[in-house]
Amino acid sequence: MKFFIDTANLDQIKEAQDLGVLDGVTTNPSLMAKEGITGKENILQHYKDICEIVDGDVSAEVIATDFDNMISEGTVLANLHKQIVVKLPMIKDGIKAAKYFSDNGVKTNVTLVFSAGQALLAAKAGATYVSPFIGRLDDISTDGLNLIAEIRQIYDNYGFTTQILAASVRHTMHVIDCAKLGADVMTGPLSSITGLLRHPLTDIGLEKFLSDYKKGN
Ligand code: G3P
Repeated sequence: MKFFIDTANLDQIKEAQDLGVLDGVTTNPSLMAKEGITGKENILQHYKDICEIVDGDVSAEVIATDFDNMISEGTVLANLHKQIVVKLPMIKDGIKAAKYFSDNGVKTNVTLVFSAGQALLAAKAGATYVSPFIGRLDDISTDGLNLIAEIRQIYDNYGFTTQILAASVRHTMHVIDCAKLGADVMTGPLSSITGLLRHPLTDIGLEKFLSDYKKGN
């Protein structure tokens, strides 16, 4: 299972990268705005800065909602760095753009996916990643994890190679449940990764090992 971090915060990206388990980064316009990154040139530079920190794929989202502008914007993003994945919204023109980029060897991430049918379309269009938002489904009393299970079953039935990127992951249990269900990738906040480290018995056990060592040395 790949671990992506879902942020545009460079310090948090560095911290996850330093841990040695980071496989990539996802961003979106809201996450960029949260870090105060505004203006086209600053946003493009920020994507390049992120690519310099991590080794894996970095999703960069288009703002355009029509095919022609998605293609021109996505092409600029893809040309920024070899690690850039063009992130496209799950709308009609987004699917057309995913097909175009797939045919032209550009990696894509179809985002804002909330149903199995949308995920099926993304796979048919040849998307590299599909991003079902599990936390936002949970927010409206709908089981986000069930969507991961449905997509896994459909993709496995037909051998689709589109990777299921569980997005809108909020906490460690989302990560563990997505791993059980066979999501290819999860993307979440730094806390959803570092939280996996913690267990009180680990801390108690380590303290005892060290105090027993000190007794004999
Ligand atoms: O990866 C999608 C993500 O950025 C949305 O997360 O927590 O805003 O639902 P959230």
